[in-house]
Amino acid sequence: AFFFRKKGDFQGKKVLLTMGPTQESIDPVRFISNHSSGKMGYALAEAFLERGAEVFVVSGPVSIEVAKEKFHWQDVLSAQSMYEAAAALHSQADIVVFAAAVADYGPQEVAAEKIKKDDDEMSISLKKNIDIAFTLGQSKKAGQIHVGFALETENEEKNAKGKLEKKNFDLIVLNSMKETGAGFRLDTNRVHLFHRNGKKVSSAVERKDSIAALILDEIKKHDNWKQA
Ligand code: CTP
Ligand code: CA
Repeated sequence: AFFFRKKGDFQGKKVLLTMGPTQESIDPVRFISNHSSGKMGYALAEAFLERGAEVFVVSGPVSIEVAKEKFHWQDVLSAQSMYEAAAALHSQADIVVFAAAVADYGPQEVAAEKIKKDDDEMSISLKKNIDIAFTLGQSKKAGQIHVGFALETENEEKNAKGKLEKKNFDLIVLNSMKETGAGFRLDTNRVHLFHRNGKKVSSAVERKDSIAALILDEIKKHDNWKQA
């Protein structure tokens, strides 16, 4: 249904989007992170922009090429710094998209000096990072639309719906690891979208820009959507 995608249909909307992985420092030369490429998040940022929105991106360190000058762009490293940047922008956003692959845990302490390989065994104590989507979901503004992502390898639908509830999302995008072509670093993806009202929409295996267009179309179906 390509003809529904009017150019400029997000004109007047302010979008806050987190994307990419986060990096949690172990010592001055090492960190914990994950395989997020930022491709899906960046495809969304571009889709919002092309359709007329003002886009505020808070991005972890991504390996893909990005045109930062087109956006209000802030680079961050850790989950905590991503939270602080997003929290500062949150109240003025109409749409908030949590596309970042936030590290769930980070080192309890960051070593001041490079850790030496003195011992045959070593371990690092980790502590849970702040849940950005959950925390901002607690202070969701009236009329605001929150969109989350879920990456699951088992009980996919149940877990995704659980996250929708827990994090106060209006829409959640489930990335199925089990299905062909889906996953990190690829240019294609297959997703299932669950609305708060129970409605479900699935994509085919498609390029990430097509998936982004579909997500924007679904955002427009939300009760809080008002054309400016
Ligand atoms: N998220 C976040 N802050 C975190 C962890 C996750 O904002 N510290 C957001 C992600 O950006 C995503 C959603 O929450 O939109 C779900 O992330 P996911 O990793 O699938 O869920 P978790 O709650 O971290 O649960 P788990 O990893 O144990 O499945
Ligand atoms: Ca997680």
